[in-house]
Amino acid sequence: MLKYFSIIQALCRSALVNPNEAVVHQVNRLKESLEKDGYDKEAKSLEGLLSSAKAGIDMSPSKIQKSFVVSKGEELTIRTPVPVDKETSTPLAEIFFPADLPSEMPVFDDNIRLAIQSIVSEWMKFDLLLEINATPASSCLIYGVPGTGKTHLAKWIGKQIGLPVVLARLEGLMSSFLGTTSRNIGNLFAFANRYQCVLLLDEFDAIAKLRNDPQEVGEVKRVVNTLLQSLDSRHERGFTIGVTNHESLLDPAIWRRFDIQVEILKPSPETMMHLLKIFLAPLEFSEIEIKFLAWCIEDSSGADAEMLSKWLKRAFVLEKESSLVAVMKQFALLNSGRVNAGKRNIMLRSDEDFIAMLLNDKTYSFKQKDIAPLFGMTQSSLSKQLAKFKETDKI
Ligand SMILES: Nc1ncnc2c1ncn2[C@@H]1O[C@H](COP(=O)(O)OP(=O)(O)OP(=O)(O)O)[C@@H](O)[C@H]1O
Ligand SMILES: [Mg+2]
Repeated sequence: MLKYFSIIQALCRSALVNPNEAVVHQVNRLKESLEKDGYDKEAKSLEGLLSSAKAGIDMSPSKIQKSFVVSKGEELTIRTPVPVDKETSTPLAEIFFPADLPSEMPVFDDNIRLAIQSIVSEWMKFDLLLEINATPASSCLIYGVPGTGKTHLAKWIGKQIGLPVVLARLEGLMSSFLGTTSRNIGNLFAFANRYQCVLLLDEFDAIAKLRNDPQEVGEVKRVVNTLLQSLDSRHERGFTIGVTNHESLLDPAIWRRFDIQVEILKPSPETMMHLLKIFLAPLEFSEIEIKFLAWCIEDSSGADAEMLSKWLKRAFVLEKESSLVAVMKQFALLNSGRVNAGKRNIMLRSDEDFIAMLLNDKTYSFKQKDIAPLFGMTQSSLSKQLAKFKETDKI
């Protein structure tokens, strides 16, 4: 055995260039056996290799053990040519390297956040799962209403995996010639399978729109089949994330291709408040003001919260004296799609009605002392005014 030790040592060194838990475990076993049999010098040399590999793992930007997709395929660099649509020369995908991907997970309600963290941590223990012959999920479909952070989430997952993201908008692959569409899909997957990457198929439902063309039934079937086969071919090669707003349009056969399906819901009132605080920074608002803003755009998406925050920043920087209520009325007037119609009508009708609606809201349970300052009043003047209204109501 010692006759071949230099070869064994070289083997271990090469394996530890891309260390994963399984390799480290086996080299460690060899080291311990050598130690037991008294080959201290050889054991020490393996120990040296192990400790530098460990330092490498600790310094690695990726939290995922280097294995599976990471070890398959060529490395993608900024010089790698991206395939293009032959007809129009438009690139079939956009490449995002880890440095360009978001490091913050989108803000979600606790149950969604925990579910996503558990998938990601499953991927991080990939090698452990392989040791017991369990294959972790390698594809994930993210769906839900527009603007809820789905694309952002998919990119963040790519960042966690530590690989470049090959982002293809399905709409962009579709050509007026269905034959070209199939070829584009084939070329895109061939590209993704060749390199170490996460394939992100955004606006995945675009493919379903093809079905509406009754004249092209045969060709459409072929496109869908190409997609199904491509998804199957991808299974062994790397992670694939599909994102869609219209999950109901997807063929059940496509659904089945995804190991995990995550629905992203609109933010709850608490999550909306959290999002507003993040988007409004560095401007600071009180808890009550944030709660008031969340109430105004209740049932909207994270993208709407981002839009409102930009609006507020502009208003407060340009007109320092602005009142939050006045700015919100203006926002409601000019963003009819972002503020519920019932609320908008009352907000714009009169302050009395506006205040009454806030005080009657069961979810937010505003108190008079919270609301008075928003409308530039003291609590006692507000309660006097409310009493006066009650009197008038009685008349
Ligand atoms: N939950 C969230 N946490 C953090 N940012 C969010 C969240 N929801 C939306 N955003 C922000 O809103 C914008 C739109 O998000 P994104 O594009 O990820 O949404 P989407 O669900 O993919 O929308 P669409 O369905 O329209 O493609 C981004 O700037 C994103 O950062
Ligand atoms: Mg999106």
